[in-house]
Amino acid sequence: MTVSRPTAPDAAADEETLAELEALAVDFAEAAARLIRDERPGDLGAQSKTSRTDVVTVMDTRSEEFLRDRILTARPRDGLLGEEGSASPSQTGLTWVIDPIDGTTNYLYGMPLYAVSVAVVVGNPSEPGWRPVVGAVCSPGMGVTWSARARGGARSAAIGGGTPREVAVGGATELAQGLVGTGFGYQAAVRAEQAAVLTTVLPRVRDIRRLGSAAVDLCLVGDGRLDAYYESGLKPWDLAAGWLIVTEAGGVVSGPGGADPDVTLTVAGNRMVHDQLRELVDP
Ligand code: IPD
Repeated sequence: MTVSRPTAPDAAADEETLAELEALAVDFAEAAARLIRDERPGDLGAQSKTSRTDVVTVMDTRSEEFLRDRILTARPRDGLLGEEGSASPSQTGLTWVIDPIDGTTNYLYGMPLYAVSVAVVVGNPSEPGWRPVVGAVCSPGMGVTWSARARGGARSAAIGGGTPREVAVGGATELAQGLVGTGFGYQAAVRAEQAAVLTTVLPRVRDIRRLGSAAVDLCLVGDGRLDAYYESGLKPWDLAAGWLIVTEAGGVVSGPGGADPDVTLTVAGNRMVHDQLRELVDP
C-alpha cells in the first residue's frame, strides 16, 4: 500500500521559507478566528448552499474576504483556493487553501467546535497530486491553534502567542479500543451511504465522535485525543492543513486504495490504527 507523506519538492519551499509561511498561516488563521468570534452578528444571514442542510453565513464570507486580502497582500504571486469561491492561479507553485469557517453548522448553532483552516500546498489543489507543506488550524472556541510545516513537526499553542508544544499521534494499537472521529456530507444520498459504512465501524471501535469540523478532527488525531478519523466527501480546504498536522505528528493519512486523501475518502491515525480502520472503510 502506498501512503503519502507530504513533502516540499522544490526550492519555493525551503526550510526558511516554510518557517516563514507557517508563521504567516498561524497569524492569518488566528486573526480570522478572532474576527468570526468577536464580530459575530445577531443575524448570521444563513443561506443554503449545496443542499438545504448546507449553510453559508455572512461570517464565512467575511472571514474568506479577510483571509484573501491578507494572503494576497503578503504573497501576491501565490495561488488561492477558498471554500467560499476564492480561486486564483499560482505563479510560484504554492497555493493557499483556506476554509474560513470549518464547522459552519456548529458556528450557526453556537457550538464551540469550529475553526479557521489555512494551508499552503505545492501543486494544483483542484487536481490530484498536490501536497500541503504548511498548515494552521485555529479553533477560537477551544482557544488553540495547531500548526505544522513539512519536515518541521507539528505543534499546538494557546491562541495569541502561547508557548508551542510539539504534538504527536496517540499510541493505540487496537482499533477496537479506539475513539474514532467521522463526519457526514450534506447530500441525503451521500449520508445514506455514510450511515451504511458507520454500521460496519461502530460495533468495532470504542466509540464514535461526530464533532462537526473535519479540520479539528484531524488536529485531534494529530495531538492524540482521537485515535483515528475517517470521512468521505472532504474538499481540499477541509483537509489540507489537518493532513499535514497529522503526518508531521507521526501519523498517516490516506485516501482510496491507500493513495492521497481526496473527495472520496480520508483515513487518518497512527500507522496501526489507520491500517485497521482502512480495512473497514475501504475494503
Ligand atoms: C464540514 C465540516 C464537517 C464535515 C463536512 C464538512 P464546513 O465543513 O468539516 O465536519 O463532516 O464534511 O463539509 O461545511 O463546515 O466548512
